[in-house]
Amino acid sequence: TRTPVNVTVTGAAGQIGYALLFRIASGQLLGADVPVKLRLLEITPALKAAEGTAMELDDCAFPLLQGIDITDDPNVAFSGANVGLLVGARPRTAGMERGDLLAANGGIFGPQGKAINDNAADDIKILVVGNPANTNALIARASAPDVPASRFTAMTRLDHNRALSQLAKKTGAPLTEIRRLTIWGNHSATQYPDIFHAEVAGKNAAEVVNDEKWLAEDFIPTVAKRGAAIIAARGASSAASAANAAIDHVFTWVNGTPDGDWTSAGIVSDGSYGVPEGLISSFPVTAKDGKFEIVQGLDINDFSRSRIDASVQELADERDAVRELGLI
Ligand code: NAI
Repeated sequence: TRTPVNVTVTGAAGQIGYALLFRIASGQLLGADVPVKLRLLEITPALKAAEGTAMELDDCAFPLLQGIDITDDPNVAFSGANVGLLVGARPRTAGMERGDLLAANGGIFGPQGKAINDNAADDIKILVVGNPANTNALIARASAPDVPASRFTAMTRLDHNRALSQLAKKTGAPLTEIRRLTIWGNHSATQYPDIFHAEVAGKNAAEVVNDEKWLAEDFIPTVAKRGAAIIAARGASSAASAANAAIDHVFTWVNGTPDGDWTSAGIVSDGSYGVPEGLISSFPVTAKDGKFEIVQGLDINDFSRSRIDASVQELADERDAVRELGLI
């Protein structure tokens, strides 16, 4: 029998948490033969709600679920953690300035980063979902100097999946025929979904689409503003699709990308494609043996360049702001 993998989920009592935990416990995060132990981290007032979710997890009698711990102490939550899904964050409320938002999240992701540094297992893998995801990941990483920077990632897989779906709709091709899409930059409205290297049934996607107006005025804004459109329609933010993307991200990280394809993830830049080293930016990535690698050697046309640069500039501005606040 395999030793269980310790999976820590922060913000476990929130709406993404509710959509996520059952799928982790059923084996979809790591594989159908991998037992898991869940650690749920919440703020004190939400512990009772987390206990309610744990009762429901018990009631599913998942064969792979070997234990659930609930705590409001990050040091306990990350003790021996192999995978950390950092979902809980401070949302922007009406009238809140960016500086206040970043400072509030610094107060969450700084201490969590330190708790990861001091307590997590050597193979810890972190996915930051809570927004602003890229910069929250940067803050956590800065507080965890003993953990390799490559273990801190930010989620742009939801954007990637949204882009896949929009492209499938436009071309009429089944999703399984679309490969090599890329989300570049920040998980924000400046992100750039790139189809110039994508393939639809083996043909170049930009050539198949052959419609720059659709690309600039429909596809890119639809993907980038999908979160707001979901809120407008549903009266609540995306939760099941966000949880699904978190499952996809970690599953890919652990189990690898299919041959000839890649995915998108926010990972620490090594300077590739002119993205300043150290920023946590979305790139085209492959995964193998538990490691993400940036796909190299793609030609970036002018259309793409200006959009990548704009989103990366936003990431650099966020980094400068948290540096000024002393958070990194
Ligand atoms: P939610 O408000 O339903 O749940 C958040 C939970 O986090 C709450 O239960 C809260 O008590 C908890 N929390 C707050 N501070 C905490 C702390 N210091 N430690 C542990 N738990 C803490 O929010 P929801 O809908 O679950 O979304 C969570 C985050 O995910 C938000 O920041 C949202 O913007 C982000 N998000 C990111 C996406 C992405 O693609 N990267 C997509 C969708 C949402």
